Amino acid sequence: MKRNKITIVGAGYVGATCAHWAATKELGDIVLVDVIEGVAMGKSFDLMESSPVEGFAFHIIGTTNYEHTQDSNVVIICAGLPRKPGMSRDDLLAKNTQIVKSVTEQIAKYSPNSYMIVVSNPVDAMTYVTWKVSGFPTNRIMGMAGILDAARFRTFVAKELDVSVEDVQALVLGGHGDTMVPLARYCTVAGIPISYFLSTERIQAIINNTRKRGGQIVDLLKTGSAFYAPSASAVQMAESIIKDKKRILSCSAYLNGEYGVKGYFIGVPVKIGGSGVEKVIEINLTAEEQEQFNKSVKAVKDLVSRITL
Ligand code: LAC
Repeated sequence: MKRNKITIVGAGYVGATCAHWAATKELGDIVLVDVIEGVAMGKSFDLMESSPVEGFAFHIIGTTNYEHTQDSNVVIICAGLPRKPGMSRDDLLAKNTQIVKSVTEQIAKYSPNSYMIVVSNPVDAMTYVTWKVSGFPTNRIMGMAGILDAARFRTFVAKELDVSVEDVQALVLGGHGDTMVPLARYCTVAGIPISYFLSTERIQAIINNTRKRGGQIVDLLKTGSAFYAPSASAVQMAESIIKDKKRILSCSAYLNGEYGVKGYFIGVPVKIGGSGVEKVIEINLTAEEQEQFNKSVKAVKDLVSRITL
């Protein structure tokens, strides 16, 4: 039996940390790619040399050459510029479109059967770029956002209630931007709705914090954006594909009429398994939630309309 092969494009903080999580989870052999000579190779040597200590037995290589990515099963695209303080995710549109486009062309050439997970921002638009450029079926293209946003929500709820994060579930829909829609109604602590524990004001504060957290981290780091939680989230998607786990995760997925949207990638709950996005789960939204969702969809559509390929 052949080993799984995971390519991670972009050896910056997000990409390198994806490699780290994927290695410790023993998901397969890892190819780390970066355009900057030496960076991917240096980090791959270092990560590989942690394997005797940590005990994972897979190969990790770093390269600038896409030939080494041949026949990857799963590809995580982290290439592109991160935000700087004062920038929104949307400010990255033009530059990252060109970067993601050229990465996608290489991936489609060398791994035409791969599943692609897009992390580069603005993620819903970059996922769309990957789809258009690759011509892959929509089940093999997805963007990482909802797991991260929900993880932030879960962390805040757990902290506030002094309970384990493991028992807190949350759902965040919509585009991964200021208009994201954290659905408090679908947030539970061991199955108990959070409205049982928290006042409307506290829940609203947690929603606001979830929306702002990415930007707060950019302001603190000054030279880039969050990377531990984004990379852990992307690797959770890769793991669900590789192990055919059929997890229900919120991801930027192609909508073909679901939620009244057609032809765009938007954050919704999906089943992720061995065939990629195996199902879009359509849940009922209240009028207010639907209105927020529509606003978020509009923001994604506006971005996509500004893409020139
Ligand atoms: C964030 C960036 C990665 O939310 O979009 O931190």
